[in-house]
Amino acid sequence: MRCLWVSQTPVAPRARQQRKKKRLPTASANSKYGTPYLPFVSLGCGLLFYIPILTLYYFISSVPRLQFANDDKHLLACCSLDGTLSIMTLSPPPPTVKVTLKGHAGPVTDFAWSLSNDIIVSTSKDGTLRIWNTEDGRCIREVADPEGSELLCCTFQPMNNNLTVVGNSKHHLQVVNISTGKKVKGGSSKLTGRVLSLSFDAPGRILWAGDDRGSIFSFLFDMATGKLTKAKRLVVNEGSPISSISARSWISREARDPSLLVNTCVNKLLLYRVVDNEGTLQLKRSFPIQHGSQPLHSIFCPLMSFRQGACVVTGSEDACVYFFDVERNTKAIVNKLQGHSGPVLDVSFNCDESLLASSDATGMVIIWRREQK
Ligand SMILES: *[C@@H]1O[C@H](CO)[C@@H](O)[C@H](O)[C@H]1NC(C)=O
Ligand SMILES: *[C@@H]1O[C@H](CO)[C@@H](O)[C@H](O)[C@H]1NC(C)=O
Repeated sequence: MRCLWVSQTPVAPRARQQRKKKRLPTASANSKYGTPYLPFVSLGCGLLFYIPILTLYYFISSVPRLQFANDDKHLLACCSLDGTLSIMTLSPPPPTVKVTLKGHAGPVTDFAWSLSNDIIVSTSKDGTLRIWNTEDGRCIREVADPEGSELLCCTFQPMNNNLTVVGNSKHHLQVVNISTGKKVKGGSSKLTGRVLSLSFDAPGRILWAGDDRGSIFSFLFDMATGKLTKAKRLVVNEGSPISSISARSWISREARDPSLLVNTCVNKLLLYRVVDNEGTLQLKRSFPIQHGSQPLHSIFCPLMSFRQGACVVTGSEDACVYFFDVERNTKAIVNKLQGHSGPVLDVSFNCDESLLASSDATGMVIIWRREQK
């Protein structure tokens, strides 16, 4: 089936001016600014039809990452270059900021929820990894980078949330035991550039790390000791930063191969097939987006039970969110969401895909609701 839509007016300039003048104490509903968006007119797009329900002008500076909590429909965390992280509850309305995580002395570059959502780890250009209690916002532990360099990304080991992997600007990757704050012996490695992105496969056996020189390295992770063994290297495009890596063990009923979704600055979103147990990658498809320099991220749609095909969603520098169906040979683009006022840096689904959140380089966050058709 084809998907049709009409584009809508961009964000009203007035809304942006107002945002500059006044920082809102809490999340505020879209209606406060009138309705700067005209919803899509969509035919036959079924469950991939999303409308903006809420725009948060809460952040003064860029929001590089945002993520819904695990198995949760309404808990959303965002980090900002202003040095804070915010945990928001989107329901019951109105949305509120549940807790703000304050302490980093520099821009927050990345964060991750633990499996049970009780902890968030975050990295910052201030050179520290911080471990937060998400209930009361307390910083449980602060771990300084031994080299004193900027920390750029982090991820939990999916099978053992006591272990976190952190990447820094001096090309190093390090496994940290967050219950002690100590480096794990044998858990470090060096890449060819600043470490920008990390992703484990679901069983936590393979870790991929991307750097700003255009390389993706795969590592074998020893579950018993936390040791990393370098396995493979792929130069995607020399000199093009790998801003996002996202692993998925299957993507659809039709295509069950383990896959890796990659954003690098080549005006394309890349989908790789993982062909062996060492994390070797083979390009499967690419999708056109605008990507020249910004730290863009992308994700797999988490569910597939209610539709055919398999979708991926990505930010883009043209201020749009794109949905691509990886199983369609032609017209892979199935939806395009407009409304942001700058490059869309990150996207996140809640657990049942009823909400999508997207953030941009101007500090705007939009919550989109799926329309049941
Ligand atoms: C994490 O470490 C604590 C002890 O510090 C232990 O009780 C717990 O089982 C560990 N969790 C995992 C997932 O290994
Ligand atoms: C992490 O530290 C805890 C507490 O000391 C310890 O029990 C656990 O074995 C450590 N885990 C690893 C993989 O080193």
